Amino acid sequence: MQNIKNYIESNKARFINELIEILKMPSVSADPAFNQDVLNTSEAVKGFLEKAGCDHVEICETPGYPIVYGEKIIDPSLPTILVYGHYDVQPADPIELWDSPPFEPVIKTTEIHPEGAIFARGACDDKGQMFMHVKALEYMTSTGNLPCNVKFMIEGEEEVGSESLGWFVERNQEKLANDVILISDTGMIANDIPSITTGLRGLSYVQVEVTGPNRDLHSGLYGGAVANPINVLTKMIASLHDENNHITIPGFYDNVEELSTEERAEMAKAPFSLDNYKKALNIDAVYGEKGYSTNERNSIRPTLDVNGIWGGYIGEGAKTVIASKAFAKISMRLVPNQDWKEITELFKKHFESIAPAGVTVEVKPHHGGQGYVTPIDNIGYQAASKAYEATFGKAPIPQRSGGSIPIVALFEKELKSKTILMGFGLDSDAIHSPNEHFGIFNYLKGIETIPLFYKYFTELKTK
Ligand code: BES
Ligand code: MN
Ligand code: MN
Repeated sequence: MQNIKNYIESNKARFINELIEILKMPSVSADPAFNQDVLNTSEAVKGFLEKAGCDHVEICETPGYPIVYGEKIIDPSLPTILVYGHYDVQPADPIELWDSPPFEPVIKTTEIHPEGAIFARGACDDKGQMFMHVKALEYMTSTGNLPCNVKFMIEGEEEVGSESLGWFVERNQEKLANDVILISDTGMIANDIPSITTGLRGLSYVQVEVTGPNRDLHSGLYGGAVANPINVLTKMIASLHDENNHITIPGFYDNVEELSTEERAEMAKAPFSLDNYKKALNIDAVYGEKGYSTNERNSIRPTLDVNGIWGGYIGEGAKTVIASKAFAKISMRLVPNQDWKEITELFKKHFESIAPAGVTVEVKPHHGGQGYVTPIDNIGYQAASKAYEATFGKAPIPQRSGGSIPIVALFEKELKSKTILMGFGLDSDAIHSPNEHFGIFNYLKGIETIPLFYKYFTELKTK
């Protein structure tokens, strides 16, 4: 397979231009204003899968956005890899904080990406990473290097909870039958410190609404005499953590798996500089649950964070008003064994119970999903590890991530297969944030590494 490097070298400009083409499409799944753009993006992905050599590609309708399915079955007796990715992206807001428009991709160099990075919403999460698989497939089919069967399933609702994908997977178990699932939608430690993600956190996302008086009131005439929903909401939220930054919801930690001293020592070996971490975020101190390191806090420990909060007057100048209502969106990141539906119930019960007289509280569950851990003693992980070792020149470090891809636990339940998370993004790539980008090095390294995974997985599986 020595000619993958040559293939990339001679097709590099086209690989970048094709990615730019889909990055120009604003496929924001959360905002109905982009409905047609999301649909157009699914068509574009279909076209690229056809060109990459799939025998059969279809747009599968669902109750929500369609799933693009493609396959190339070369011999049913050979192993089958199922590639999953998503073509939808997060909203670009706040747009004014972007240095260039989010859907007009530009290439710029950065300190971390001296070879250049593509700046656009979705560059890393997940269009760039999903597209590495399409280009790797193109290489394998056009040079006779595809060693096994492959199926692609690219969805358009990952950023809003993958509801239709659950629906689709339950109804298409046979169509999706596979020996391993391969996803590039996570990150790695650094471009010279490759790592493979071995765990994801679960998620429970809720919206809360506190209602006081039946209308907005003059804050002089009524101030001090009625419950102010914003005052109440912020106080309730503040009470959800104690002085050690433990979450105070009764039962919240009941099923949290405590790692052994050995496992924690193993984790602590991963290269990490607290100074660089603080410098990159321009903070003078880290903050979090007492008794745990930064890397533990953002991977093996559960969290509760306000993601948005609003109410009252936020326009120019001052308006003296006590709002009738206050709102917040809250995410809880969960660890394996915590059941997201149970946690959502616990939150709801607790939050309603701490509301003082004078207000009513409503908790609306949004979406969620289970966490995931994968052992490293399976052939999928071993094949990935060998592939990274060949292309990066060193063995990758297994690392649990703090992010969530809820559908991975569902894949295990419905399709009975393990997922290998070969992510090539960096934490500094600013996913979900203004100025999201993806390194050209990372994009091309992914395209180079993926065919080796196919090769080693097939060898290990058919041995
Ligand atoms: N690709 C991310 C998840 C991710 C990123 C995992 C980096 C590990 C490292 C995915 O698109 C995402 O954003 N997931 C959401 C959850 C979803 C239900 C909206 C998340 O983690 O907030
Ligand atoms: Mn993603
Ligand atoms: Mn995302």
